[in-house]
Parts: sequence; structure tokens; C-alpha cells
Amino acid sequence: MRYALIGCGRVSPNHISAALDNGLEIVALCDLELQKAEALRDRFELLQSVRLFTDYRQMLRDCQPELTAVATWSGTHAGIAVDCIEAGCNVIIEKPIALSLADADRIIEAEKRMGVKVSANHQNRFNTAVQQMRSALRAGRFGKLLYGTTSIRWSRGEDYYRSADWRGTWAQDGGTLMNQCIHAIDLLRWMMGDEVTEVVGMTDNMLHPCIEAEDFGLALLRFKNGSYGVIEGSVNTFGGDWEETLTLFGEKGLAKLGGRCVNLVDMWRFADGDETDSHVLASCGEDPPNVYGFGHKSLYADMLSAIREDRKPYVTSAAGRRALETVLAIYRSAADGKPVALPLGDCASTDFRGRFGEPVK
Ligand SMILES: NC(=O)c1ccc[n+]([C@@H]2O[C@H](COP(=O)([O-])OP(=O)(O)OC[C@H]3O[C@@H](n4cnc5c(N)ncnc54)[C@H](O)[C@@H]3O)[C@@H](O)[C@H]2O)c1
Repeated sequence: MRYALIGCGRVSPNHISAALDNGLEIVALCDLELQKAEALRDRFELLQSVRLFTDYRQMLRDCQPELTAVATWSGTHAGIAVDCIEAGCNVIIEKPIALSLADADRIIEAEKRMGVKVSANHQNRFNTAVQQMRSALRAGRFGKLLYGTTSIRWSRGEDYYRSADWRGTWAQDGGTLMNQCIHAIDLLRWMMGDEVTEVVGMTDNMLHPCIEAEDFGLALLRFKNGSYGVIEGSVNTFGGDWEETLTLFGEKGLAKLGGRCVNLVDMWRFADGDETDSHVLASCGEDPPNVYGFGHKSLYADMLSAIREDRKPYVTSAAGRRALETVLAIYRSAADGKPVALPLGDCASTDFRGRFGEPVK
């Protein structure tokens, strides 16, 4: 399958590795800065016949890829994705799929109209630990779900935010909830039944005057099924990326996933437990080199199967929209100082411009 990548920055090696591991024919790489596309081609020793572009529209016309991945600044995802879809391409969109609900809806509408597949790049859903939790949940082993919690205790310094102009801006990125925490927020919402009825949020910018958006956020979620969710996200953790955890509390079971990016099983306790459970606790986990984990390869494999079998991808565009909606609802609640009912009306990250004042240049 003919594949092209748009955006050759930090996360791009995960995409190229996933494309190669899945036997895709890489036909083009595109970045506004041509040298980044060139460096990526060299790093992976791709054929010189892999074409390099600075204009993705020209790339779509000249190369006609069947699958593209969009790994550009978050605020550009929707526009680029819709153009790819309208060129008849299937698309993997890095998280967050968009920065406004209107843009997410444009993607979903175009996907339906053109009959292509779109997957939101929430690769942690494929972590072995996360898959174990999902299986236990689907088997009903938690009994009645009571609540779920997630903590994202990472660290990003001024150097990270100053490494690219889009980082931490309302128009192109959002803050830590939208960027770093959205994976865990996706997992929490997915595990707890997807349907959120109410959100209470608090956000702050405590240590990063160089950015517009938040570096810390707290939220409470109420789910339609009667359960609750708790979210804590920070890039102010002293000493580096400590952990990203997800804990589910049920009437008949409790499981906690930990590690730096929900890649380990820390607690696994069920009323109907047997010897396979001690195996899960002892051996189920991965040790990725960074917090991006190993999930891109599986997400690509699923996308290829979805295209070939004409079924929905495992992580749909609607799932990407739900994660986005949750973050925007937290922003809305935090800005207004009151609970927010879902579904959320139209809302965009740019609605929160000025919330923490002008950034220090
Ligand atoms: N899934 C994950 O775990 C994960 C990890 C990191 C980043 N991301 C997401 O991936 C995206 C990129 O993040 P990054 O850290 O790689 O950023 P980056 O700044 O390192 O790279 C982004 C690249 O996109 C290019 N670009 C921007 N607009 C473009 C356009 N119109 N056409 C072509 N190229 C364009 C930029 O020149 C830049 O090289 C973000 O949306 C981010 O949230 C996801």
C-alpha cells in the first residue's frame, strides 16, 4: 500500500518504523522544512526514490498515496486530514485529531462522504497492559464499575516549549491536558463506557510563563453508567517523567496500570482470580525507550486490516473526537468556574486565549 507521512518532526520516527514494520511502500515524506524530510529519509536509509515535498497538496497530486499519516502541529491536523480524505486517502491522524469540535466534525463528515478510513493515533490502546485491562473489563470481571483514575506526572521544561513555536499555544497545541494527557484521558473515557455527562475542571499555568496554555490540570467526570472519573495531569513533576497511570475500581475487581506510559501492570486483583492473574501481574508489560511507547506499529497494523476488511479501525475518528471533547470540557469548566454538561456545544482551544495572560517571550 502506497504510504506518505506529513510532518517529519519528533514523533515521525515512530511512524516510519511502523510503516516499515507493516510492509508499507513509503512513497513520500513531507515537511515545511525540507531538510527534516531529508534527514528522516537518511536516518531510515529509505530509497532515494522516496520523494520529498514541502507542500502536501502537491504530494497528494503527484504521489497519490493510499494511506497518509498526519504528524504536524495539532492545529493543522484537521485541514490537512480533510484534504487527504478528499484526495481519496485513508488517514492516521496524530492526537489530538483537531483542536475544535467543529474541525473534528469536518473530519468525520469527510470520512463518511469519501468512504475512507480514519484512525485517531491513540496508540496506547494497544499496550499489552491496556489490552489486558480491556479484556478483563469486557469479560465483566470488575463487576459494577465504580470509578477510574488517571495520573500523568511528567515533566517538560522551558527548553521543550521553546524548541518549536507551536508548543503550548492555543491555536496549535493547547496545554498539557491536550498534548501529553490526552492519551490517558482517551483510555479513561473508553474504559468507563465512553459516555460522559458532566465535567468539573481546574487548570493552571504554574511554572511555564513562556507558554499560553496550562501546565497543570485536574478534573472530575461523571459517566452515564453511574461511575466517576478523576484526572490529574502535570508537566511540572520534579525530576522528569515519573508515571502515567490508569486505575479502575470495580465492585469485584481493581487494576492499576503504571510505568511511564501505562505500560506496566502494578495491581491486578479480582474476586474470580486464578493463577493466570499472577502471570498478568508478573509478566505483562513493556519497557519502551520513551513515553511514545510501542503502539504505533499495532495501530498501523490495525489500520491496514481495517482498510483491507472494510471495517472501522480500532481507534476511530469518533474516539479521537471524544478525547478532544473531554479536554475541551475541562477547559470550559475551568474557565467558567462551574460544572459543564456533555455533550459539549461547539468549543475550540482558541476560545481560551488569554486565560493565563500573555506568554513571556
Ligand atoms: N502519539 C504520540 O505519542 C505523540 C507523540 C508526540 C507528538 N505527537 C503529536 O504529533 C504531532 C507532531 O508532534 P512533534 O512533537 O513531532 O512536533 P514537531 O514540531 O517535532 O514536528 C512537527 C513537524 O510538522 C511540520 N509541519 C507543520 N505544518 C506542516 C504542513 N502544513 N505541512 C508539512 N509539514 C508541516 C513542521 O515543520 C515540523 O517539522 C503533534 O500533533 C503532537 O501532538 C503524538
